[in-house]
Amino acid sequence: MIAMTTDARKILVTSALPYANAPLHLGHMLEQVQTDIWVRFQRSRGHQCIYVCADDAHGTAIMLSAEAAGVSPEDHIEAVKADHLKDSSGFLISFDEYYSTHSEENRLWSETIFNRLNQAGHISIREITQAYDQEKGLFLADRFIKGSCPRCKAEDQYGDNCEACGATYSPADLINPVSALSGTPPVEKASDHLFFTLSDFSTLLATWTRGGSLQPAIANKLDEWIEAGLQDWDISRDAPYFGFEIPGHASKYFYVWLDAPIGYIASFQRYCAQSGETFDTWWEPGGNTELYHFIGKDIINFHGLFWPAMLEAAGLRLPTAIFAHGFLTVDGTKMSKSRGTFIKASTYLEHLDPEHLRYYFAAKLSAGVDDFDLNLTDFVQRVNSDLVGKVVNIASRCAGFLRKGFDNTLSEECAEPDLVESFIAAGEQIAALYENREFSRAMREIIVLADRANQYIDDKKPWVMAKDPALAQEVQAVCSVGINLFRALMTYLKPVLPGMAERAESFLQVSTDWPELQVPLVGHVLEEFKPLLQRVDPEKIAAMIEAGKA
Ligand code: MSP
Ligand code: ZN
Repeated sequence: MIAMTTDARKILVTSALPYANAPLHLGHMLEQVQTDIWVRFQRSRGHQCIYVCADDAHGTAIMLSAEAAGVSPEDHIEAVKADHLKDSSGFLISFDEYYSTHSEENRLWSETIFNRLNQAGHISIREITQAYDQEKGLFLADRFIKGSCPRCKAEDQYGDNCEACGATYSPADLINPVSALSGTPPVEKASDHLFFTLSDFSTLLATWTRGGSLQPAIANKLDEWIEAGLQDWDISRDAPYFGFEIPGHASKYFYVWLDAPIGYIASFQRYCAQSGETFDTWWEPGGNTELYHFIGKDIINFHGLFWPAMLEAAGLRLPTAIFAHGFLTVDGTKMSKSRGTFIKASTYLEHLDPEHLRYYFAAKLSAGVDDFDLNLTDFVQRVNSDLVGKVVNIASRCAGFLRKGFDNTLSEECAEPDLVESFIAAGEQIAALYENREFSRAMREIIVLADRANQYIDDKKPWVMAKDPALAQEVQAVCSVGINLFRALMTYLKPVLPGMAERAESFLQVSTDWPELQVPLVGHVLEEFKPLLQRVDPEKIAAMIEAGKA
């Protein structure tokens, strides 16, 4: 337990809510690991940092996949949620609450926020015409309509773009369009829809995007949209739909993206009910709490425009910042099922250690929105060289000598106070890099320190001194310095490698939380050294890729 200092921050963090209709893949894990590292860093520094997430359980796609599986949507989303949680905990993601958007809390909050928008005059109703599948009795979103491409005549093209020639068009332009669900030609059908009049918030949003809450590339993108003029947002869907019915509008449902971000609030409320935390201080405007959303760059319009406008209109606080990341590619290309590089989280976990990937993600992540390439050769090399070859090596070399000659006891005095002090002092720079989500630069600093620690041991050559009984004390002194340097490194790596840090703590018999790292350990007794991390075995990678093809 870490003592909270008086300047402890109160931080609420979310990852985007995964859809409850498919298993998590390594793209999802990139996001959750990035978030989790930042969350664990904040906690290690002594701040209160609450991390909530949930499954995004509503929408037509989920309704149809439940139907295809022959189960009720409720059973379907429950089973998927259990799988998601298993995968996330496999990757050591430290959620404080993982809920579902299909919850009573979320229904109430969605209704409340909708009513507030409505009362303030931000909801309008108008009739629109859409493609309709008469056999299924369903309105068809673009991606559920297929036909031949109007340009190259390629058959079986979905929605609004052709995979054969790259043309983009309106689904109405498709030749011989049919519903992808029933194969029957769609008809045009009119119905009333509810709209959120987003343009009421143009001024607020223009200020917000420039207020430092967004990465520059994201702010520029949003500015473009704002300048082009904000369109009303269609927030209703007709029955049948799996979601929440709109109060006062029988058979009309909230569009899944209306209640999805509200799921952040609902999940946090659930956390409060179970932990005794006070809800209001975190969502009322003007408080001293911080709110951050980690998301992929594909969903910035929802988080950067609709969401702040909804919060403002509902009288709730706005996010402190939104942290967007790029997309995961594997060996330079989009994840692909046929190549076996569409790697599910569970497939990875069957073959490899989650901490290897956590480290690789950290070693290459920055605060920007560039795509992230998982290069499998580089992955093996990087983890084996940095973690096993450099970091673990320091501890294993020193532990051996301390066990054999000195009962696992560190020397009574620190032989290199300046060296140990410089490792402790380096922590502030590393902390600043973590804070700014410059994880790759933080890892680089840490590995530079690991190189210095190994260099120190190489220079002193305890294995040579150990042959001369007169130098016994010196051997102990050098290895004790090595252990102190290793302890500093583990403190800095703990947000990335929580499992390894825990094993290191049992060996070191001391906490590796940041504030504890102040003075060198002297006269301290260690536990027996046990292996901290295995090497990555390239054969297991090959096996994982094979399994992904199956
Ligand atoms: N349900 C919505 C989010 C609602 S948040 C109120 C959704 N779900 S998702 O399952 O498609 O994606 C969840 C998160 O994973 C998103 O932030 C998305 O950007 C991210 N990723 C999905 N595929 C990804 C990659 N290949 N690479 C990196 N992140 C990816 O969107
Ligand atoms: Zn075409």
